Amino acid sequence: MTDPVTVHVPLGERAYDILIGPDLLDRAGTILAERFPGRRFGIVTDTAVAKAQLPRLVAALDAAGLTHVTVTVPNGEASKSIDQLNKVVDGLLGARLERGDLVLALGGGVIGDLAGFAASVTRRGMDFVQIPTSLLAQVDSSVGGKTGINSPHGKNLIGAFHQPKLVLADLSALETLPPREFAAGYAEVVKYGLIDDEPFYFWLEENQPAIFAGDTALRGEMVARCCAAKTRFVLADEKETGVRALLNLGHTFGHALEKATGYSDRLLHGEGVAIGMVLAHGFSAKLGLAPSQDSGRIEAHLKRAGLPTRMSDISGTLPPTDVLMDAIAQDKKVVRGALTFILTRGIGQSFIERNVAPEAVRSFIEEQRSI
Ligand SMILES: NC(=O)c1ccc[n+]([C@@H]2O[C@H](COP(=O)([O-])OP(=O)(O)OC[C@H]3O[C@@H](n4cnc5c(N)ncnc54)[C@H](O)[C@@H]3O)[C@@H](O)[C@H]2O)c1
Ligand SMILES: [Zn+2]
Repeated sequence: MTDPVTVHVPLGERAYDILIGPDLLDRAGTILAERFPGRRFGIVTDTAVAKAQLPRLVAALDAAGLTHVTVTVPNGEASKSIDQLNKVVDGLLGARLERGDLVLALGGGVIGDLAGFAASVTRRGMDFVQIPTSLLAQVDSSVGGKTGINSPHGKNLIGAFHQPKLVLADLSALETLPPREFAAGYAEVVKYGLIDDEPFYFWLEENQPAIFAGDTALRGEMVARCCAAKTRFVLADEKETGVRALLNLGHTFGHALEKATGYSDRLLHGEGVAIGMVLAHGFSAKLGLAPSQDSGRIEAHLKRAGLPTRMSDISGTLPPTDVLMDAIAQDKKVVRGALTFILTRGIGQSFIERNVAPEAVRSFIEEQRSI
């Protein structure tokens, strides 16, 4: 057994630890019994994770003599709904869990967001632990306290800031994650390097093949560096009024493409971010802000990871540029005719630009969509 790496999130009375290691699910019983004595646990998970990882968690809780119930929802983004929220809250209340008991969110970002939000509203706020099992959840969504579900009006429009009491990122859980999901999470990893950490970006370029081949030590270092980065942004700006927006690098283009493909299997979120990051670098170069060779370099790296990098990599036809522009305008509020974008001066040098002319974006998309 190796000791987990700990990243501490020092948010005053809402402070918590992120533990990262290869066998944390098997040790969860001991860890939870020690940190939360006398509590009961409501596990929330999805059908795919229930098959792949739930038995490990249940065995560990049983071995430590902890009382627990499980609520399972279908896997997939559609579970971030009022209906599934209702089912989860009902399951927690039906099991007579008290306010002092804990919700365990076992799964990817969908489960983290849904279970975290359920915890925030059940009995006016239950504590919860994130046990992220997808790469995206381990490096991004499980840290920072954003929870919520989708509305017919848009994604993540119903939610709350609710910080977890602990995050257990088990690296062995990634072994059952579908490769396409792993690659999509990797796009968010690369994002941290591109935002403000050039050495991390170069480290990733060098180690990407070994990381994808399953090297646990490198994966652990990668997850820890991402959690430390996310923690820095959360501390600087817990409620996302300023610098936390840098985490949206590649996301304005990405969200527009996700919307254009109906949030379907045609394009996973991380895949949209991969294309979006290449576009953000290309657009910055076109505006004369960044070296023109960066986007090609980033593209080669993401391609090696099995990610799409161009709009033309998306299967099927994309809607007209006007429709993509509408999606961009909706994603980033238009202030007096100008758009806000995360632009860059080069790898590791991104910044928030609140004064981007929609016409410049439109002509850039026109020129990029066919290549
Ligand atoms: N709260 C935040 O700060 C934040 C940040 C980024 C993204 N998000 C949200 O996260 C969600 C996306 O998260 P995601 O990419 O993890 O998607 P997800 O939760 O849907 O997981 C992807 C797929 O992988 C499966 N899976 C997860 N772990 C597995 C494992 N170990 N073995 C086998 N299968 C496994 C899931 O069942 C699912 O089918 C979106 O809803 C997004 O809005 C939230
Ligand atoms: Zn993202």
